Amino acid sequence: MTDSSSSETLANLSTEERRFEPPADLAAEANVTADAYDDAAKDRLAFWAEQADRLSWTQKWDTVLDDSNPPFFKWFTGGRLNASYNCVDRHVEAGRGDKVAFHWVGEPVEDKRDITYAELKDEVCRAANALTDLGVQAGDRVAIYMPMIPEAIVAMLACARIGAPHTVVFGGFSADALASRIDDCQAKVVITSDGGYRRGAPSALKPAVDEARTKTDLVEKVLVVRRTGQDVEWDDDTDVWWHDVVDTASTEHTPEGFDAEHPLYVMYTSGSTGKPKGILHTTGGYLTGASYTHHAVFDLKPETDVYWCTADIGWVTGHSYIVYGPLANGVTQVLYEGTPDSPERGRWWQIIEQYGVTIFYTAPTAIRSFMKQGSEVPDRSDMSSLRILGSVGEPINPEAYVWYRHVIGGDRTPVVDTWWQTETGAIMISPLPGVTAGKPGSAMKAIPGIDADVVDDKGASVPNGSGGYLVVTSPWPSMLRTLWGDDDRYVDTYWKMFKDLGYYFAGDGAKKDADGDIWVLGRVDDVMNVSGHRLSTTEIESALVSHPKVAEAAVVGAKDEDTGQAVCAFVILREEAGDGGEDIVQELRQHVRKEIGPIATPRQVMIVPELPKTRSGKIMRRLLRDVAEHREVGDVTTLADGSVMDLISKGMSSGK
Ligand code: WTA
Repeated sequence: MTDSSSSETLANLSTEERRFEPPADLAAEANVTADAYDDAAKDRLAFWAEQADRLSWTQKWDTVLDDSNPPFFKWFTGGRLNASYNCVDRHVEAGRGDKVAFHWVGEPVEDKRDITYAELKDEVCRAANALTDLGVQAGDRVAIYMPMIPEAIVAMLACARIGAPHTVVFGGFSADALASRIDDCQAKVVITSDGGYRRGAPSALKPAVDEARTKTDLVEKVLVVRRTGQDVEWDDDTDVWWHDVVDTASTEHTPEGFDAEHPLYVMYTSGSTGKPKGILHTTGGYLTGASYTHHAVFDLKPETDVYWCTADIGWVTGHSYIVYGPLANGVTQVLYEGTPDSPERGRWWQIIEQYGVTIFYTAPTAIRSFMKQGSEVPDRSDMSSLRILGSVGEPINPEAYVWYRHVIGGDRTPVVDTWWQTETGAIMISPLPGVTAGKPGSAMKAIPGIDADVVDDKGASVPNGSGGYLVVTSPWPSMLRTLWGDDDRYVDTYWKMFKDLGYYFAGDGAKKDADGDIWVLGRVDDVMNVSGHRLSTTEIESALVSHPKVAEAAVVGAKDEDTGQAVCAFVILREEAGDGGEDIVQELRQHVRKEIGPIATPRQVMIVPELPKTRSGKIMRRLLRDVAEHREVGDVTTLADGSVMDLISKGMSSGK
C-alpha cells in the first residue's frame, strides 16, 4: 500500500458524519462507564482478575497470566471451576431457580416451551449422568449435531459439566463435514436428533450422522433426541434414544472443578486452505471473557432484560452469546428454532413483541434482507421494549446500521457493532452502549482490557486517517489456545506475521479514522488492488447499498489487463426498483464514482436475483470472482442454496 493511494481512499471513507449519542437514561444507569478504559489500562491483569471474580471458582487461581511460553498463553493458572455450575447451579442456589432461562420458540407456531433455571439444571444433570453411563469421561470429545432445540444447549452444558470438550457442528453441514470434524478431534460420541423444522417442514439430521459413520469408525455411541418423530434407521449397537437414557437418569450430579485451562470446546472454522481449523477454547479465561463482554457490551441487567441472539449454536456467536456468556450471567433469553421469515415475514418482530425482548443481537446480512422488504412488516409489531441492538459477523454498512436503528430500534436504541472472531472467543472491538457516541459502520475501539491496533506490514501503528492490518497486541483471557492437534498451524496462522512484536494477526484489514476509531474493512484477502490503489470490497458495497434502489451488493476484484484488478459488483435491487436494465447499471457506476472516487468505479455492475452465501450468511466472493473472470464456477458445496450460481450465470448470459 503506498501512502498516497491509501490516504486518498481513506479520505473518501471519512465522509460519514452521523453520530448517535448514548441515551441519557441508559448512560446514567450503565454497567460500564468511561472509567473502565482507564482502570483497565492502569493494570490490565488486575482488571481481568476482577472480571474473573464474576465467576464461582472451586479453587482460586495463583497466576492471572502465564506468558512464559508465547504464543501458548495460559490464564488463571492453578484455578479450578466448572462451567456448567457457573451457568446453572449457582443461579438456582441463589434462589433464582424459578426464573426463566429460555423462552424456547419452535418453528411450528404453537410449539413453545419455557424452561426455568431449576429445570435446566435438572436436565443438564440428567444428561451428564447419561453421558457418563455411555462411557464418556473427562477429556473425551463429543460431537453435537442438532437443531436449535433446548436439548442442544443441555447437551453442551452436560459435556462441560463432565469435562468432555464438545464440538458443535452446524446442523446445515453435510455428512462429509461432520465426519471430517469427528475425525479431526476424535469424537467418540455424537449427540443428534431425528430432525428439525425448516420452513414448516421436518428435515432430517440423523441420516447424515449415519452416513458420517460410514466414513469414520471412531463413533461408539449416537445419542438421539426425538424432535420431529420421523422414521430413522436404527443401529442397536450404537444408537440410543435420549428419552430412554436421559429422562430416566438422576437429577443429582456433583460438578467437578476443572483446571482453568481444561479444554471446554473445539469449534471448527474455515481457513484459507481446505482443511478447517479446530479452534480450541479452555474454561476459565473463556468464561471470564464471554461473561464480562456480555455484561459490558449489552449493558446487561439480568433482573429485567429479555435477551435474544439469533445466531445458531453451530457458530461461535451461539457458544459465547447464547450459551456461555448469557447463562453465566443468569439472564432470561429467547431461543428460536426457525428461520426469520417462516411462516411469515414478520415472525422475528412478532417474537420481540410477544416476549418483550430488550436486547437483540443479529447479523448485517439479516438486517439487509429485511431492509430489502421495507419497513411495512416490522412496523406492524410493537417493539418498544427494545433498548439495545447488536450486530456481528461482517462490517455493517452505514445504511443498514441506520435502518436497523430507525426501523427496528425506533431511533431510541444504541447499535453495538461488535468485532470479534471464533478465535477471539469474545467481543474485542465495540462501542459501549452507555459511553460511546456511535458512528454508523465503525466498531469504534477495543473494549476495556483489550489492546488492539491497526498496523502496517512492519507492525508499526498507522496514524489516524490510515489503514492497515488489524492486530491484538496483548494476550486476552478468551483467546484461542491452539488449533486442535496442530500447534504449528496455530503459530503460523496467527503469530508469524508479527513474530518479533508478539502481535496476534486477525486476518482483517481496518482503518483508523481522524478520531482514531476503527473501521473494520473485511478480510485482507477481500481487499482489491486497482491500479496500485487499495480498495476495500466492503467500502464499495457500502457505497452501492447507500443507493436507494439497491438492496444488497457484493464486490470482487477481477483480474484486469490494464489495472491489475478491476471492480466487479453484483447487485440485488430493491423490489420497487424493477428489473434493472442498462440505465440503472450506469446510474450505479456513477453513484460509486461519486461516493468514493473514480478509482472505485465498477468495471461491471451485474444485476442478480440472489447472492451466493454460506449457511452462516457470508457471501462467497470466491464464486463471484469465478463468474467475473469468466471461469468455470468452483466448489459450491458450502453454499446455503447451491442453485444460486445457476441463477446468476443465467442472468449474465442473457445479457443482464
Ligand atoms: C468478520 C464471528 C466487521 C471479520 C463472531 C472476522 C466483522 C470474521 C465483524 C470472524 C464486525 C465479525 N465488523 N467484520 N463487527 N464481526 N467480522 O469467526 O472478518 O465467524 O475476522 O466470528 O468476521 O468470523 P467468525
